[in-house]
Amino acid sequence: MPAAGIAPGGSGKEYPGNLTPFVTVTCIVAAMGGLIFGYDIGISGGVTSMDSFLRDFFPSVYRKKHADATVSQYCQYDSQTLTMFTSSLYLAALLSSIVASTVTRVFGRKLSMLFGGLLFFAGALVNGFAKAVWMLILGRILLGFGIGFANQSVPLYLSEMAPYRYRGALNIGFQLSITVGILVANVLNFFFNKIAGGWGWRLSLGGAMVPALIITVGSLVLPDTPNSMIERGRADEARSALRRIRGVDDVDDEFSDLVAATEQSRLVEHPWTNLLQRKYRPHLAMAVCIPFFQQLTGINVIMFYAPVLFNSIGFGADASLMSAVITGIVNVCATMVSIYGVDKWGRRFLFLEGGVQMLICQAVVAACIGAKFGVDGDPGELPKWYSIIVVMFICIYVAGFAWSWGPLGWLVPSEIFPLEIRSAAQSVTVSVNMIFTFAVAQIFLMMLCRLKFGLFLFFAFFVVVMSIFVYFFLPETKGIPIEEMGRVWRSHWYWSRFVEAEAGRGNENLEMGGKVV
Ligand code: BGC
Repeated sequence: MPAAGIAPGGSGKEYPGNLTPFVTVTCIVAAMGGLIFGYDIGISGGVTSMDSFLRDFFPSVYRKKHADATVSQYCQYDSQTLTMFTSSLYLAALLSSIVASTVTRVFGRKLSMLFGGLLFFAGALVNGFAKAVWMLILGRILLGFGIGFANQSVPLYLSEMAPYRYRGALNIGFQLSITVGILVANVLNFFFNKIAGGWGWRLSLGGAMVPALIITVGSLVLPDTPNSMIERGRADEARSALRRIRGVDDVDDEFSDLVAATEQSRLVEHPWTNLLQRKYRPHLAMAVCIPFFQQLTGINVIMFYAPVLFNSIGFGADASLMSAVITGIVNVCATMVSIYGVDKWGRRFLFLEGGVQMLICQAVVAACIGAKFGVDGDPGELPKWYSIIVVMFICIYVAGFAWSWGPLGWLVPSEIFPLEIRSAAQSVTVSVNMIFTFAVAQIFLMMLCRLKFGLFLFFAFFVVVMSIFVYFFLPETKGIPIEEMGRVWRSHWYWSRFVEAEAGRGNENLEMGGKVV
């Protein structure tokens, strides 16, 4: 997850440091982490819409799609095994991120990254050579384990290696690389689908081996982070590593802050029970609600199943894959808009604007699909203008997500948790996200079959709820140093009742020093 980055602090300190080759290579490896996650998000939808793939592995879906004219278009993809292929990955990721948090803390970030890389590689290999459905699902599970490890360690590694001035930008940079991964997957699906003989899906699934190799090699050659060395009692080594990483000799300030932050976090014995204390109620609420709402925007219906969805609503195979490429491009570009605007316009503005935009699009898409397909799922001939309108509104919807809930769903949690609950709260955020990613993937095809165009109204309802939630409950965090974040809760009309007893004391005065475990 693009989760662990810390926005630039406002402590007034200026640690010296350059963008050294170490840091540059770090960014490349981190980008691979995001890329492979995005690739796995984007690849399955295209592959599951390919006829050759369906014929080999999901013959009943294939038959429904082609032979059986009595099956409503809404239901042609409704198959539990097909859904399992997509969603098993997220359940595996959820489980392994729990293990990974211990590996990362006790054995260092590099080992988690290495596990991540190897598991990815194994998963892509099994998928690429799959001969039966169980191999496909096993491959997805291995990929999911890899994601758990990589997403736990890579963002952490990144935020500890990066000079602190770049942390915030790198945080959204990770999200950007996820969107690039989704796009690459969509583009490759489009081309591989054209390969004669229908085995292109093997290249699509096996292609994940390339970024997997880069992460594996990267984790072997990159140094461990100074934070992790200190945490494991190797302070002297950490000091010289820090010098090498920053490219300057004078690292004393940063080093002593790192040591202080590590010691401080050792004092926290029970981060999980801490999180349940009344004064952390706002943080806990955000750790749960933000990822829950992010997934209930319905974005992954588009990310996972765009080609399937476009196919279901009457587009040809090529047009479906092409439309997924178009939404992928919009996703990348709109994420860049967020990078540009997040510190200018603020989080609340983006959340609310994105919400309104998504809502309008969901209503229009529901109306379009409802008008043509009605409840029986038989559209007759689809005119070209109709397809253009549907794709256009889906793109505007994706843009709305990509500059609001997409990046902010990760950035905001990472900047509001005080150090003493950060590790626990962050795990809650990641887990809730994975659970609901799984749930949406698991029930979407079934919901499309049962709710028909009402599916879009279902997600629209949640967009209304989440926008109201942001309006009333999410304070603006733009430009607030992490260590002063306590004041936004103390001055909030609702949350102040939970935190006001803390006024004046404030753990938020702790120096963060980049400690994020
Ligand atoms: C979400 C993913 C989603 C992606 C789309 C991320 O922020 O967590 O679930 O697929 O954005 O770009």
